[in-house]
Amino acid sequence: MHGANLGTLLRTCDAVGACLAVPRLPWVSEALARGNTLRHRTCVHHTGDPLRWLARQRQEGHHVVGVELAEDAVRLADLCAARGPTIAVLGHERHGIPLEALDLLDQAVEIPMVGHGTTLNVAVAGSLVLYKLAGLL
Ligand SMILES: C[S@@+](CC[C@H](N)C(=O)[O-])C[C@H]1O[C@@H](n2cnc3c(N)ncnc32)[C@H](O)[C@@H]1O
Repeated sequence: MHGANLGTLLRTCDAVGACLAVPRLPWVSEALARGNTLRHRTCVHHTGDPLRWLARQRQEGHHVVGVELAEDAVRLADLCAARGPTIAVLGHERHGIPLEALDLLDQAVEIPMVGHGTTLNVAVAGSLVLYKLAGLL
């Protein structure tokens, strides 16, 4: 929903050695171009239909981690660093991860919160999880 989050996530992906996967939509490409303040090449994959892309990645053996407040989610502190190819799925700023995508997760991770807000900004949540998966935290 907010293009600035894509630029932030692109920088985090670069920092931890991950690629960013996004649907090929005009506003997405524009937001990435605007938000990319890095001077070197970045790794961006275009998914086509995101659900089909995710299902295919899973079939190919990628571990799929959903970043979401969910009943069966592990807490961030208990999330292990990735041991193989891993995909972190982030939710829409307003609607979260859609039900069809929740069915494709191997695992969900949530970031505990003690304040008054109910959720974190998606780029903040994604960045924390990516650092943990990368074993850099
Ligand atoms: C603003 S939240 C979406 C809130 C949405 N209204 C809902 O109830 O699902 C956007 C995304 O950020 C991530 N997120 C935000 N806070 C989180 C938290 N504390 N733990 C895990 N993921 C979080 C999730 O991927 C979520 O789908």
